[in-house]
Amino acid sequence: MSGTPLTLALAAAAAEIEHALDTLLPPAEGAEARLYAAMRYAAMGGGKRLRGFLVLEGAAQFGVSRVSALRAAAAIEMLHAYSLVHDDLPAMDNDDLRRGKPTAHRAFDEATAILAGDALQAHAFAVLAAEDTHSDPAVRAELCLRLALAAGPKGMCGGQMLDMLAEDSAEPLSEPAIGRLQLLKTGKLIEFSAEAGAILGKAPGPQRHALCAYGRELGAAFQIADDILDATASAEEAGKATGKDAAAGKATLVGLLGLDRAKVQAERLAAQARAHLDSFGDRADLLRMLADYTIARRS
Ligand code: IPE
Ligand code: IPE
Ligand code: MG
Ligand code: MG
Ligand code: MG
Repeated sequence: MSGTPLTLALAAAAAEIEHALDTLLPPAEGAEARLYAAMRYAAMGGGKRLRGFLVLEGAAQFGVSRVSALRAAAAIEMLHAYSLVHDDLPAMDNDDLRRGKPTAHRAFDEATAILAGDALQAHAFAVLAAEDTHSDPAVRAELCLRLALAAGPKGMCGGQMLDMLAEDSAEPLSEPAIGRLQLLKTGKLIEFSAEAGAILGKAPGPQRHALCAYGRELGAAFQIADDILDATASAEEAGKATGKDAAAGKATLVGLLGLDRAKVQAERLAAQARAHLDSFGDRADLLRMLADYTIARRS
């Protein structure tokens, strides 16, 4: 197998996270098997696992046990999968392709997809709150609180509301308004992913804050890169329909500033993300590489 140190590490982490998800999600058996099958369909068998990788690499800075880190990584990937299932619904982005396969509501039906999303979200918190995740209940509570804040009204859901409202607004959003939308809909979950390892490892305040700041800038760069991919990648590359944001009236920096200036912004944010890791040693090299990968990726 060949690849860069980062692509090899991402592939290895993805395999570990896949195994953790397989263990943590209910097997598709019994009277509710259809719900469990839809949960497994949405959460497993694809995705870059970037959020899970952030948890694992953050945790590695502080010597957190692999079992704890993998449970937290799987939980954030469950929550992320829920956000994608609902994002793809006809009432939202109305997409038929996700991770190179039919979206959950296409493979199953809308009611099953809505329920699978709801159940993935709840299950993520159940995994974090369970004793196996950390022996200290205060650490488990902190993980649940931070994920709830990142996913809820002042986080991903709030951002998704702004995203939907912008589609119908007569006036285009300003650059700061787009920045805020993206911070909420994408940035907060990525920031939590970068912070989770520090919470698990009871890291000193300055190091935890540095990882948060890294995650915040990385998340902003990540969403601009996603918007650039929508404008420039094929569906085969991206594993999802592309070329839709402009026609749908989505508020993006690509739409407001054009591709070239959006790319410059993403590069600036990735460099800022890297700079927040200056106080970390060689162990943070994969996180540094991840900042470059985030804006260079084609899927
Ligand atoms: C897609 O996220 C949704 C956004 C926040 C842009 P990813 O690009 O991380 O999706 P997967 O998990 O790799 O499929
Ligand atoms: C979705 O943003 C962000 C979420 C909170 C799921 P997009 O709508 O741009 O994500 P894709 O392009 O469908 O993956
Ligand atoms: Mg969307
Ligand atoms: Mg979408
Ligand atoms: Mg997109």
